[in-house]
Parts: sequence; C-alpha cells; structure tokens
Amino acid sequence: MTVKINFDEQHQIFHLTNQKISYILGIEEGQLLAQLYFGKKITSYHNSRRYPRLDRGFSPNLAGQPAEIDRGFSKDVLPQEYSGNQTGDYRQTAINLTDDVNGASAADFRYADFKIVSGKPHLKGLPQTYIEKRDEAQTLIIHLIDATLRTSLYLSYTIYDQRAVIIKSAKLVNNSDRIIRIDKIASAQLDLPKNNFDLISLYGAHVNERQIQKNELPFGITEISSRRGSSSHHFNPFIALVDKHISETSGEAIGVQLVYSGNHQFTIEKDYIQQLRIITGINEYGFNWQLAPTAEFQTPEVIFAYTDKGLNDLSLTYHKLLRERVARGKFKYAKRPIVINNWEATYFDFNATKIKAIIDKAAPLGIEMFVLDDGWFGKRDDDKSSLGDWYEYVDKLSDGGGLANLAEMVHKKNMQFGLWFEPEMISADSKLYRQHPDYALTIDNREMTPSRDQYVLDFSRDEVVDNIFNQICQILDTVKIDYIKWDMNRHLTEVYSHALNNTKQGEVYHRYMLGVYDLAERLVTKYPDILFEGCSGGGGRFDAGMLYYFPQSWTSDNTDPIARLKIQYGTSLAYPLSSMTAHVSASPNHQTGRQTSLAMRAGVAFAGVLGYELDLSKLTDDELKTIAMQIAFYQKHWQLLQYGDFKRIKSPFEENEVAWEFVSANQEEVMLFNYRILSEAQPSFSITKLTGLKDNYLYQETTTHHQYYGDELMNVGLYDAPVAKQDFTVTIKHFKKIK
Ligand code: GLA
Repeated sequence: MTVKINFDEQHQIFHLTNQKISYILGIEEGQLLAQLYFGKKITSYHNSRRYPRLDRGFSPNLAGQPAEIDRGFSKDVLPQEYSGNQTGDYRQTAINLTDDVNGASAADFRYADFKIVSGKPHLKGLPQTYIEKRDEAQTLIIHLIDATLRTSLYLSYTIYDQRAVIIKSAKLVNNSDRIIRIDKIASAQLDLPKNNFDLISLYGAHVNERQIQKNELPFGITEISSRRGSSSHHFNPFIALVDKHISETSGEAIGVQLVYSGNHQFTIEKDYIQQLRIITGINEYGFNWQLAPTAEFQTPEVIFAYTDKGLNDLSLTYHKLLRERVARGKFKYAKRPIVINNWEATYFDFNATKIKAIIDKAAPLGIEMFVLDDGWFGKRDDDKSSLGDWYEYVDKLSDGGGLANLAEMVHKKNMQFGLWFEPEMISADSKLYRQHPDYALTIDNREMTPSRDQYVLDFSRDEVVDNIFNQICQILDTVKIDYIKWDMNRHLTEVYSHALNNTKQGEVYHRYMLGVYDLAERLVTKYPDILFEGCSGGGGRFDAGMLYYFPQSWTSDNTDPIARLKIQYGTSLAYPLSSMTAHVSASPNHQTGRQTSLAMRAGVAFAGVLGYELDLSKLTDDELKTIAMQIAFYQKHWQLLQYGDFKRIKSPFEENEVAWEFVSANQEEVMLFNYRILSEAQPSFSITKLTGLKDNYLYQETTTHHQYYGDELMNVGLYDAPVAKQDFTVTIKHFKKIK
C-alpha cells in the first residue's frame, strides 16, 4: 500500500503521504501540535523546516513553560494544527470553550497520544467521505488534552491512496464533571507560511449561484460564510487558496471544502507577518453547545485538496472524490434519467389533462421520467399554503383519477415517475400548523418572519422529523415513485426550539441540520431504489453534505443558457458534472427574458444531467424533432457527459467565447463545446487548445472525419470561428481515437 502515516519518534513528527501529497505535523515545545507542511509529496522529512525562533514584542510565550522560557517561541505566530482561545494566540482560533462553573473562557490543548487506524472511522449522523476497501485509506487520530477543563480533543486526519486530499475533523469529549460550553468548534485549521496565495470563492444569489471571484488577501480576516441555516446560494462552502498567477493547467492551489449543509464559516486570516490561517467549520454565529460530562461533540469534516497543476486538476480531484466516495447508493455511477419536469411548464396551474398532454409528447421523444413538481398535495394552488400536509390534493388530479393513476399512466408509457417534496417547511395555512404550531421555528411573543409565505419546521425535534417521515412514507408506499426532488425554499429565522431549554437554544441551528440528515438517511435507506435530487430554490444547498444523501442537485432556478454558462462553470470548480442537473426550458427564458435557440439551450444543458422543463404540448413538430435528436445525442454520450473528465478551457467570466471539454478516462473520446455569446460584425477568431489528450493518439472528428493527433489538438488547436450571424451559438465536436 502506498498510503503511509509515519511517526518519527525521535523528532516527534507525523508524516502522512501517498503518491501525490505530504501532510506533516509535529509536536513542539510544551506539547504544542504544529503544522509543518502541506503540499506535493516528499519522500521523507528531515526536520528541515523547523519554525524559526524569534522574540517578537507583544506575542506572548507559552503558559507553564519552565523558568528558562524561550521568548522566541509563541503561539501567536507558530503555525499550529488547532488553536484555542485566550491562551496566547491572538489570531482566529479553532476552538473557543467556556467553563460553565466559573465562566472562564479559555482553551489550550496539548498533545497526549495518537493512534493510526486503517480505513476511516464512520461519523454517526453526519455526511462524510467513506471507504470501500479498508486498505484504501489510513487515519491518524491525535489526542490532545486541556488539563484544566479535563476535556479531550481528537483530531482526525484521513489520507487515501492516490487522491490528493486530506480529510480532517475534530471531536471533543468532556471528561470532567461539569458542563463545558462550546462557543466555537471548527472542523479544521490550516496554517500556512508566508505565500502569494489569492482567495477563490463562490458567491451568488438565488438564480445566480456560484459565481467565481478571485481576490487578493488583505492583512486581517476575510470571511466567507453563511448565517442562513443552509449552505446557501450566497456563499458556497468551498474556497481555494491559489497562486496569484494560477491557470487551469498550471500553478499551486489548496482547496478547502466543508462536508456540511448548514451555517458555515471560512475565515482566512493574514497575520502581521503575512502567514495565513484558514479555519473552517460550523459558523460560530448563533452557535453554542452545552457539552455535558462524558458527552462528545463531533464536527463535520473538511476536505483539503492540493495540486501544483492548476485549477482544473484541483476540480478533478474533488469531482472524483465526491462522485466515488461521498455520493452513495445505486445511482452513483448509473445513467441518470432524462426528465421532463412540469414546473416551468405549468407552475401551480395544472390538472391531469394538462400533465397528460405533456407526457404524451414526452414519451415518444425518449424522455425517461416525468417529474410532478410543486402543487400536488394538501390544497396547494399557489405558494401560500399546505406545506407540511404531504397527502394528495385529491381535487387537483381528479380529472385523471388521482396521483396513483397518473403514476401508473406514466409507467405504462415506459417512463418513470418523480415527485416534488419540501420536507422541512410548513405553511401557516396547513393542517400541520393548525395542529402543531410549535412545530415551526418561532419565538413566543414575537411575530414570525415570513419568506415565500412559509415557515421552517423545527427539525431539531425528533417528533417533527418522525411526523414528516411518516407522511412521506405513506405516499411512497401507496404510489409508485422512482425519484424525489427534495426542495427547501427559504432560510431560517427565529431559530428557537420549543423542545429545548433556554441554555440549549444555541444548539438549534446544528440540531436542525442533524434532523435534516437523519430524515434523508432514513429515506434513502428505506427506499434505495428511489433517486433523490437535492434542491433549494435551485442550487441553494449545493454542497458535499447533501451529496452524501442525494447524488444530484438542481443547479439553479435560472435555466437561461447564457446565465447557466457561468453558474455551471462556477459549480464545476468543486462539484462533479454528475451532480449538476440542467434543463432545457422555454424561450424567451422565464428568468431573464432572453431568447435563445433550442440548440443553445441543449448545448449548455448537455454539460451535466440533462432534462427538459417546458410545455412540450406547445411546441411545433420541428421543435419536437429537434428535441428527439438532442435526446438521441445525449443517450449516446451520457457516460462521457456525466462521468468524463470535465476540462474548462475558456471562461465565461472572462471572454465572449467560452469552451469546455469532456475527456473519457481512457482518453480515447473527447467532446468539445464552443459557445459564442454575442455576435460581432468583426469577430475575432480565437483558438481553442484542447487538453488532457494523449499526444500520439490519432483522433477523428466524428462528423467531418477530420483527423488530428492529440498533440496537434492540444498545441496547435482549432479555430473557434462564428457559425452564424446571431447571438448565443454553440458548436459541439466529438472526437474518437482511431489509432
Ligand atoms: C423551487 C425549485 C423549483 C420549483 C419550485 C416549486 O424554486 O427550485 O424548481 O420546484 O421551488 O415551488
């Protein structure tokens, strides 16, 4: 096995390494756990980079050091693994604890012992990376103790064979006889020596998710976070520290991805001597946790990735890991069905006749699944009622004999049937609310804050989760359902649980997430044949946490292909294409009003999991024929488009001409997409150089039969000339190795 975790007894150094990376940490004076190196694999570490000692004014020394104290040694500058509050490190700390008895806030963890286990221990109740074979990974667990608080901290580091990632998490165990209050507990800290890294992050909004920004880091603290109770459209739980001059194919980068879907926090601090400290985990906002004697708290985990080969390589590392060791279940490598979804076709205004008209058109085109979206339950005719009432709205589909009949009709057409749910929500106008107003997150004597006219259920309570679970099972056990779209259409406010006492209200945000994960786990376990798609007003909870339960997610409520170029490009930084669903919708587009051709709409939706979301019964025969051809094309190439290596070539954030490419694992097949956004009277002819091919393979373009060697396509490239005098065009080229 090439995964190795070594402990050098003499120098007190741990070295985690595989074929690609090394992660090195050591035990310094006073048993402080110091970070020594994270980067490209090295054969062996000879203590070459011991942190220089220098007496710096106002950076204090170590508590409890003997009289001959070394003034050159300070927690305030030493790169560490996990620092605590109030004990000499003035930077952001990973953990802030308060002793409940005397109210003192301080934490100072020192090394006690370690163990190395093969594989990777399971984290109960949390999403996580996992192993399939015991020998594909090793985990180092370092035990640290705060002697005053009598608490133990277990830092976990997993390294996999071949993958350029380190997975970290932390667990706190209270061995004392009193309550310890956790004010903050990060998943991990990474301290880096002075460098020239810029920060990449994914900001956005509803219908504008995961836009890429790259910023120079100032002295002080930069924060990327969510306080919305969900990972959010606004800041995705992923960042990368990248060389100033990074390109897709060259330069160093460190990725940091949190496997969590609730409030997150990434702080990146440049200290007074230009060192970087990255801390990530559950957001400390609105968080505190009463850790009772003998109780433990396990943080979510975080995936650190490293590359020296540019951003695309970092993305591929994440794509593979998320696809192979985060996503689970029978769909993880499976062909994902091409759906027709009725949302943008009908919104709430449907009956069985209208739906049947869409299905009748869809079946002969080769569409594989019909998804009935919002509006089939309770008494739901608009977004003002019925969330929480997960039973059939009998009047709605009565013209077709109800939901079960509709499902049967769909199956008779050899299509599968999918259904929309929004499990975490409650409408004031619902049976559930009338029966259990306390099931909503509310604060007594305070008005509730509405959003989309709905409220959030208190998923920190088991009985609430059980209620929704039972209602959903009732539907799933009576109607044949192959797919569920799990939506979440507002963020949390009045985060207060009527089931917890006043000292425990700071636990509600996280307990809410644990409730969501619990419900998801119970459903995917009980119904392994159902494909789940995550959704939150489009891509509002597009994160590695949800991916553990749902192998795909609705990428955005914005279905305009031009907007999607950026959204999908940005999403691909951290997430695999098999997780990104993309639908062809009507033109003019409902979100932007932009008019685009069917070819352009499909040209963008092909890059991911293809679906349709428009009223097929309103299309002309020619349009339907075009769609049939698009589906035939996708059926032929889904393997490459869902699971091939995705290569970004020309960015929509920088250019009018955009290009991306898919390469098969054996490099024998390639699909190139060139998009031209605006038409120009004097267009430039830019060149697209393909990447990731084999130099000496001879590739043939499958429509023109032109032949090129791999090195020709990668170095000489192809002209990307306009194909029509119009805005928004796409060309697709498919190459296959012939020699
Ligand atoms: C969210 C989803 C949409 C649709 C609506 C229904 O906005 O992202 O696709 O399901 O809810 O209310």
